[in-house]
Amino acid sequence: MHNTLTPILLLLSGLAWATPPADLDAPATIAAGQKRFNQNCVYCHGNAGSGGKGAPLQGRGDLAPQYLFDTISNGKTRGALQMPPWKEAFSPREIWELSAYIHSLRERAPER
Ligand code: HEC
Repeated sequence: MHNTLTPILLLLSGLAWATPPADLDAPATIAAGQKRFNQNCVYCHGNAGSGGKGAPLQGRGDLAPQYLFDTISNGKTRGALQMPPWKEAFSPREIWELSAYIHSLRERAPER
């Protein structure tokens, strides 16, 4: 009995991380993501994602939460520019918070 249940439970816990948490739009989630973004991402993406070495992340209606989660987790390469994967550095919860923060920048007019 246990032998059949264990893979199912593992699968369910994996799915729980793969889908956005219910509080993705909550101010506390966004604030936690903003703090981590300022510590780890501003170096390449600029203040509030205004751009720099990486892509600008403001005013981007095209960045869906799931895409953000996957891209932050696995990293991205564009030409000679490279973003490292972050899934070893942060928990899935922390990556969702970062996704929530970037998602919250979609209404913001680009600074440059
Ligand atoms: C070493 C520089 C660097 C750091 C640090 C960095 N990034 Fe990136 N990031 C990049 C580059 C380069 C790209 C790819 C550029 C592109 O998509 O045009 C990118 C792409 C992205 C994208 C996808 C944008 C798109 O249009 O597809 C997201 C989202 C992102 N970064 C979020 C983050 C977050 C969150 C952090 C902090 C945990 C972070 N980045 C830290 C360099 C960096």
